Amino acid sequence: MSRLRVAAVTGAGSGIGRELALACAREGMALALTDIEATALAETAALAGALGVPVISQMGDVGREQDVEAFAQACDAEYGGVDCLFNNAGVAVLGPAWLATADDWQWLWHVNVMGVAHGVRCFVPRMLARGTPAHVVNTASAAGLATLAGSGVYSATKHAVVAFSECLAHDLQQAGAPIGVSVLCPSLLPTGIHQSGRNRPAGLDRTVPPAAAYEERVRVGMAASPIGAAEVAALTLDAIRQQRFYVIPHAQTGASVERRMHRILDDFHAQHPPTAEGGPTTQP
Ligand SMILES: NC(=O)c1ccc[n+]([C@@H]2O[C@H](COP(=O)([O-])OP(=O)(O)OC[C@H]3O[C@@H](n4cnc5c(N)ncnc54)[C@H](O)[C@@H]3O)[C@@H](O)[C@H]2O)c1
Repeated sequence: MSRLRVAAVTGAGSGIGRELALACAREGMALALTDIEATALAETAALAGALGVPVISQMGDVGREQDVEAFAQACDAEYGGVDCLFNNAGVAVLGPAWLATADDWQWLWHVNVMGVAHGVRCFVPRMLARGTPAHVVNTASAAGLATLAGSGVYSATKHAVVAFSECLAHDLQQAGAPIGVSVLCPSLLPTGIHQSGRNRPAGLDRTVPPAAAYEERVRVGMAASPIGAAEVAALTLDAIRQQRFYVIPHAQTGASVERRMHRILDDFHAQHPPTAEGGPTTQP
């Protein structure tokens, strides 16, 4: 981390984003923070400032390219650029796939996917132009590696973030750029994510309230998490140090990923049984 001096964090007002900001501050990094919630953002800025590092903060909606570009310009003006970008802001809805409204899709795609897309589009060309070591962390979810009932829209956006991050890493490697990429895939942990509706735009408010059973599953899952947002942030910084791509903080995620991969390969092998010559290969 010692070569990474400036960190930019989106969704820095709460939960994982706040803890990422504080973890970077403890490393002595200067911070640029953004969020859609003014009060929460100011609280994080004050907490980080109390750790003795320079902090700038700017309100914005990560789903709006002009807001993310303005944030990148503020980082340039204050620090001459960013070494470590955390595309972290995210929101969630719950419910059976067939009840998801067009507004649900639009809102989650706007924040969870376009937020990451705009972050990469606005910051990575600047990192490439500087040519110094840098790192991008996109926050996806365990729901981006496996799937679960009631998570259709959320899981679709998080699978998009995982896939986009994998392609970003391929592209940067092909370009020979000194920019690492990680994708953060936590399972449920206690943050404000279950109250995402607090930031839902008025124009995209058509939704179906989640069934009590889903809300209970989230409540129980959050309470059962053996780790909190601070531990997730610490593990993320470890992953940057070790140049690890997948950051998977919860041990239980491994079994979900294995189940999904087995299901895919079981169906594949049922359609392409081994032949006398050695059978089909699973290479793409
Ligand atoms: N908490 C979990 O269980 C969990 C699990 C897996 C992944 N995640 C992911 O972690 C990330 C952080 O979420 P969290 O759990 O800390 O939740 P959180 O609600 O505590 O924090 C999310 C932050 O994003 C901000 N935000 C929301 N919409 C925004 C927008 N349009 N523009 C800018 N900022 C916006 C919120 O104001 C908030 O400060 C999200 O991407 C989420 O999907 C969370």
